[in-house]
Amino acid sequence: MKHLISMRDIDRGQIEEILKEAERMEHLLNKGKPLKLLEGKILATIFYEPSTRTRLSFETAMKRLGGDVITMDSKSSSTMKGESLIDTIRVISGYSDIIVLRHPNEGAARLASKYSSVPIINAGDGANQHPTQTLLDLYTIKREVGKIDGIKIAFVGDLKYGRTVHSLVYALSLFNDVEFYFISPEELKIPKDIKEDLRSKNIKFKELTDFIDDIDVLYVTRLQKERFSPEEYEKVKFSYRITKDLVEGKRFIIMHPLPRIDEIDYEVDNLPNAKYFKQSYYGIPVRMAILYKLIG
Ligand code: CP
Repeated sequence: MKHLISMRDIDRGQIEEILKEAERMEHLLNKGKPLKLLEGKILATIFYEPSTRTRLSFETAMKRLGGDVITMDSKSSSTMKGESLIDTIRVISGYSDIIVLRHPNEGAARLASKYSSVPIINAGDGANQHPTQTLLDLYTIKREVGKIDGIKIAFVGDLKYGRTVHSLVYALSLFNDVEFYFISPEELKIPKDIKEDLRSKNIKFKELTDFIDDIDVLYVTRLQKERFSPEEYEKVKFSYRITKDLVEGKRFIIMHPLPRIDEIDYEVDNLPNAKYFKQSYYGIPVRMAILYKLIG
């Protein structure tokens, strides 16, 4: 694996290797000793869209491994003077050993990988893919449910534009006997190509408008406001909300890639099955594992 652009580029064996390496990284982190596994290496984070978790957890992961970080965003760089993505990548791949890129255009990370002399990690390209989020989601399921094969998972929310949902559905389809439930209003339904992919693999799924609770994982997503026209957004806002009454005492874990806007009530946060802050923490060992696999 030279780059990490899409979950479609890696197989189940490679996913399991990364999850295993992440467990080792979590164990090393828990020991609390400084690590030198990537000493002397430089990570460049290039973000053309806002981010809190992906950017800072990658930067933390690199520093925890003993490496260094340089960073660029579109607002304070020569992008403002009109410099292209391709030229930016050509320049920054000469400054660094690995690049993490977030860009609003689908396919941007793939394009960047063609012009980069160092590995590119896709940190989100439009509504397309966010593979490192998928890997940390899989890690969270493995750690908190205890298995990935055979789980029942319900996705709730903006299933149309939620790239984390698209990536995770694909990745889970590589595991055995996973059952999928897609809960959303009509306007936010899961795209047809994803359903076709599941059908072609004979994988069970159901589309619902009502909530269910005989599941192992409830995966909630925010409405991707930035990808709707103002008129479309007005129609779908406030169309779903996870309340304490709905989820308290249930056996399933609650996940969310975050940021949360108003789709999960704050009083859900302290329930034992609310795992979304732990999920964001797992971004550190998983991204340490990915960095180490690519340039260690
Ligand atoms: N989950 C996620 O990608 O969060 P950020 O947009 O804050 O990076």
